[in-house]
Amino acid sequence: MMKNTILVTGGAGFIGSNFILQWMEREAGPVVNLDKLTYAGNLRNLERVSADPRYTFVHGDIANRKIVGECLRDHRPRAIVHFAAESHVDRSILGPDDFIRTNVGGTFALLEEARAYWTALTAGERESFRFLHVSTDEVYGSLGPGDPAFSEKTAYAPNSPYSASKAASDHLVRAYHHTYQLPTLTTNCSNNYGPYQFPEKLIPLMILNARAGKTLPVYGDGQNVRDWIYVGDHCEAVRTVLAQGRAGETYNIGGWNEKTNVEIVETICELLDEFCPKDPVIPHRNLITFVKDRPGHDRRYAIDAHKIERELKWHPRETFESGIRKTIFWYLENDEWTKEVTSGAYRQWVEKQYASRSGVTRA
Ligand code: NAD
Ligand code: TYD
Repeated sequence: MMKNTILVTGGAGFIGSNFILQWMEREAGPVVNLDKLTYAGNLRNLERVSADPRYTFVHGDIANRKIVGECLRDHRPRAIVHFAAESHVDRSILGPDDFIRTNVGGTFALLEEARAYWTALTAGERESFRFLHVSTDEVYGSLGPGDPAFSEKTAYAPNSPYSASKAASDHLVRAYHHTYQLPTLTTNCSNNYGPYQFPEKLIPLMILNARAGKTLPVYGDGQNVRDWIYVGDHCEAVRTVLAQGRAGETYNIGGWNEKTNVEIVETICELLDEFCPKDPVIPHRNLITFVKDRPGHDRRYAIDAHKIERELKWHPRETFESGIRKTIFWYLENDEWTKEVTSGAYRQWVEKQYASRSGVTRA
């Protein structure tokens, strides 16, 4: 018998942990979190729910079919919400292997085990089961300044090893619906920001560097555009798609908030000037440094979120102004979390990543 449980993969990462915390507050059903705990996974994110009897953690790799199969047999979930991935573009450029192994091989393993599990369910259970695959807008490639935003019909044109691996996984999910009728849902979301984001990504990296008086490394001319969404809004969208989305469909999720990287970094600097006037370097914007560009750096991403808004009545709640304030407050109040994730391996990564990117400071 299938239970009311959902199986979340990658629930110890940035979006996955926000999703589980939100789920435990707003939904009744139990959650099983299957996570390998790579550098990006941190069980501390889930301390608030770790003692809740509805929450179970399973330490394991999605590419290990035995573990995935056991997890499905033991917990009998009604849905899989698949976040687990290698997620950082710069890391995919320095070493793509793990991206292919987890994002392509891991998703394949999960699909195969999900198909076997789903096939053995009763007809009614098969009907209500869902495999929700969380993906990115980066699969659509790069837009010019006047191009229309990505819709669900935009052709795939991934440009980085990360986006290519996510595109491959999206295609596998599509094929499992088309060929085997596995009831899949795919979401393609824009850049997230918010609590628990690992400080290798733009927004937390800039907050932490600015506070410490370290340079703020902006790639190239800083005019690349991303469409930013607050992580809580993304999690709500995923819950909405899981509850109401039509099997076999894809839904684009975005915040209607296109900004250049320089605009983002300047906003962070202005808010930190206000909140932390005693930091080592004031104004914080004096730390902005233009460094060597990322190879193959996509110029612009923008999401057309009309489909999910029209069909499922989901809308983002946060504006960038409200979301970025919340995010900065969270990082200011969670020093311990930051210290923990920025020890050892993190420092080695930062040194390797920025060593060859000497730059020009603006001030
Ligand atoms: P993250 O890197 O913060 O977390 C990834 C999580 O997956 C970690 O907990 C890690 O331990 C786990 N994981 C990695 N490999 C695994 C494996 N082989 N088996 C089991 N667990 C494994 O990533 P995130 O930013 O939270 O992104 C989550 C998902 O959302 C990804 O699929 C990503 O492609 C997608 N996405 C992210 C963004 C964004 O802006 N961060 C935007 C759109 C879509
Ligand atoms: P990132 O957070 O890595 O997300 P993605 O590449 O998946 O969009 O980067 C967001 C943007 O910020 C991207 O255009 C690259 C840029 N960036 C910098 O300019 N400097 C940095 O140190 C980082 C990490 C990113």
